[in-house]
Amino acid sequence: MVIHTFETLPSTNQYCELLDLSQIEEFAVYWAQAQTSGIGQRGNHWASEPNKNLTFSLILKPTFLPVADQFLLTKVVSLGITDCLRNILPKHADIRIKWPNDIYVGNSKICGILISHCITGGLLANTIVGIGLNVNQTSFPDWIPNPTSVKLLTHSELELLPLLTDLILNIQNRYTQLRDNPNSLDAEYLSQLMQLGVKAKYIYHEKEITATILGVNRFGHLQLITAEGETLSCQLKEIHLPPNIAQ
Ligand code: BTN
Repeated sequence: MVIHTFETLPSTNQYCELLDLSQIEEFAVYWAQAQTSGIGQRGNHWASEPNKNLTFSLILKPTFLPVADQFLLTKVVSLGITDCLRNILPKHADIRIKWPNDIYVGNSKICGILISHCITGGLLANTIVGIGLNVNQTSFPDWIPNPTSVKLLTHSELELLPLLTDLILNIQNRYTQLRDNPNSLDAEYLSQLMQLGVKAKYIYHEKEITATILGVNRFGHLQLITAEGETLSCQLKEIHLPPNIAQ
């Protein structure tokens, strides 16, 4: 793995989007010690205190995967991150994946993931996996709902480079699992999914509903059943947890 380190970039994902990725090797990492315009999901800003956290992008070349199976990469990355966190957080920490790919500990978000795919000739050519992991930051702006960090959970500081290397190795292990036995990721992803099987309130198309998560389909759409017995299949823009519970 080659790690390209930058003091400051606007956004590592945006930087990677401007590269000629055909010339870049798989598993290349672009790590910014500070980002000035970090990008989050749903068009949000990703705020991270300089030199305290991991903000990086990883290049994958999943040419072996049909485009329709791209959600498997979300599973690979989410599971790689939870594997890594399980080794460093206290044993009792309740590490969960909030659909589709936020990493939570209890009710607090510790890591966000932003994945974009370049598709050529109907095949996945390059994938940019942007990861923001809160490591040594202990205070956060008020507008970030329920953040946490490794330091808040362990009360100790971690060196960033060894943690980054460990994180990438864990993701590589899950990527190998994807190549060898793609179906084996599904059950593990589901077993770590937040609120699976739990009746809860959601905002669906701007309306509050009560529903239970049943799972996630091949395309990564969240499957729910409402209290009235209607089944829903939702894409990211269609459904939110109410903001007072989580982001
Ligand atoms: C989210 O909103 O949960 C996704 C956050 C992703 C943030 C990371 S930080 C490194 C990479 N570069 C960016 O601009 N965004 C991603």
